[in-house]
Amino acid sequence: MVNPSFFIACLLFIALNAIVQGVVAAKDKVPVEILKGINDLDKVILRNFRGSSVEVYLYGAQVLSWKNEHGEELLFVSSEANFEPPKPIRGGIPLCFPQFSNLGSLAAHGFARNRFWSIDASSHPFLANSSRTHVDLLLKPTEEDMKIWPHSFEFRLRVTLRPAGDLMLTSHIRNTNTDGKPFNFTFAYHTYFAVSDISQVRVDGLETLDYLDNQQNRTRFTEKEDTITIESEVDRVYLTTPTKIAILDHEKKRTFVIRKYGLPDAVVWNPWEKKSKTIADLGDDDYKRMVCVEAAAIENPITLKPGEEWRGRVEFCAVPKLLQWAA
Ligand code: BG6
Repeated sequence: MVNPSFFIACLLFIALNAIVQGVVAAKDKVPVEILKGINDLDKVILRNFRGSSVEVYLYGAQVLSWKNEHGEELLFVSSEANFEPPKPIRGGIPLCFPQFSNLGSLAAHGFARNRFWSIDASSHPFLANSSRTHVDLLLKPTEEDMKIWPHSFEFRLRVTLRPAGDLMLTSHIRNTNTDGKPFNFTFAYHTYFAVSDISQVRVDGLETLDYLDNQQNRTRFTEKEDTITIESEVDRVYLTTPTKIAILDHEKKRTFVIRKYGLPDAVVWNPWEKKSKTIADLGDDDYKRMVCVEAAAIENPITLKPGEEWRGRVEFCAVPKLLQWAA
């Protein structure tokens, strides 16, 4: 017969031990950490106490991982991605700035995605409280950059992992020209969402809108479908969309909710089978596991006078069920 007080003492010991182990484990996972990533490139990891995490590389200020509390990856990175500057990295969230696609004289999607950013010394990521972690990254042009785009600017990107596991990116772009000149730019958060199978995916919130079809010289069409399914190559800029867009993954029973501010347009891109084979850093079958829905400012470029600042924010939430959607 076991002595009841001994039994209670054992239970108390086990419970206390579990609490101590939990605290130690939580402390082990510091909310903001700088580590070496693939090919020794610096990356910042944000973690919250529920177990969600975000990884952002200083090269391109590119978020390349966003995991939910179960450790499931929510962003797609190509199986053939190059982590070799100055090449861009295919996957995650490349930043298109100061030019979207080939809408200007720069290389496609501008140069922000293949520059080394710094951690903004004026912010204090390591003092972030445990309920909301963030890091601020900064890009200023070099003399070489100013030869191809003759403007001085400061681009601050705040990457925030919220307590519930949502990911938020806020861009602040300021014109710091001293010659009195304004500048124009186009912009996109070129987000590659991970999906189970592209045939099981639909995009809601873009119905009845006008779009420019990049496959047809940006001819303008009106969306006729109630929901967007992807069954062949799609490369469209939907114009002046609602704030909220949803990606429903029927196989995974997951809904990505995208909320965007200061970013009127939204690109939907999937290269499908034939085009994928022409993209060296994309695996032949990768198109089945990704869809890009990109919060953007494309149709009307943003103009900033010296001293002016623009802000564009996007919030992503991954809900573990299929939401009935109403924009
Ligand atoms: C999309 C464009 O945003 O990015 C497509 O609409 C383009 O036209 C795609 O092909 C990928 O661009 P890149 O430069 O990363 O190969």
